[in-house]
Amino acid sequence: MRIILSDSTQEAVNAVATMVLERISSHPNSVIGLATGRTMEPVYETWAQLNSEQIVSHEKCFFFMLDEYIGLQKGHPGSFRSYIEKRVVKPLGLHIDQVAFPPVHTDSIHEAASHYELSIKEAGGVDLQLLGIGGNGHVGFNEPGSLKTSRTRLVDLTPETIKANEKEFPNGDMPHKALSMGIETILEARQLVMLATGKSKADAIKYLLNHHDDPSCPATYLKSHPHFTVVLDPDAASKINLKI
Ligand code: GLP
Repeated sequence: MRIILSDSTQEAVNAVATMVLERISSHPNSVIGLATGRTMEPVYETWAQLNSEQIVSHEKCFFFMLDEYIGLQKGHPGSFRSYIEKRVVKPLGLHIDQVAFPPVHTDSIHEAASHYELSIKEAGGVDLQLLGIGGNGHVGFNEPGSLKTSRTRLVDLTPETIKANEKEFPNGDMPHKALSMGIETILEARQLVMLATGKSKADAIKYLLNHHDDPSCPATYLKSHPHFTVVLDPDAASKINLKI
């Protein structure tokens, strides 16, 4: 695991946006895994900003979404699809067909989950997977208790995750279920880049650094990945003690 300690949140955001853009610039056919959440919002803003200064072709790229809520109507503003359309597809001028969204509008969610896994394989796998981290150590929607061998599947959200995200649903219609890539699915990406910003992530980051393969903090499973980079702002890093 490589840790990048940034001097400010913007510096951390710039580091992540630059990693993605450099990957796409050097490998135009890249397959990028997209994460959502408030942490990622400035990354997508900066990515679009840097791209407007330096125009990197995204035409040959393909994108897979990490997860999606189950139970929202198509086009719901709280859906991760709406988030990505607004913050990634439009600003970068992507064609909507360049992004695969977890297929949540189906009667057979288990079959759809297997099909999503197959689509990732057929695309040649994910080259660079962006990740945030939940305050309880979840990645994607792999909540505490998730197995390291988990694949894309239907998951129940924990009360803590519901509380953390329900402000995105002012009408009180926050779903309690989601479809999420599994831990093993995420581990198959060739490079993992996690961004954590803010004090609310400090405990999870401290736990991540001090534990391995701990089901109570699924992010710890990612430490066995040979190319796992964690980018931290000063608040997220405020509880860690790095001996130099
Ligand atoms: C969300 C997403 C994750 C995200 C995490 C943290 O619900 N499923 O992909 O990394 O929880 O979100 P935030 O960045 O808003 O704190």
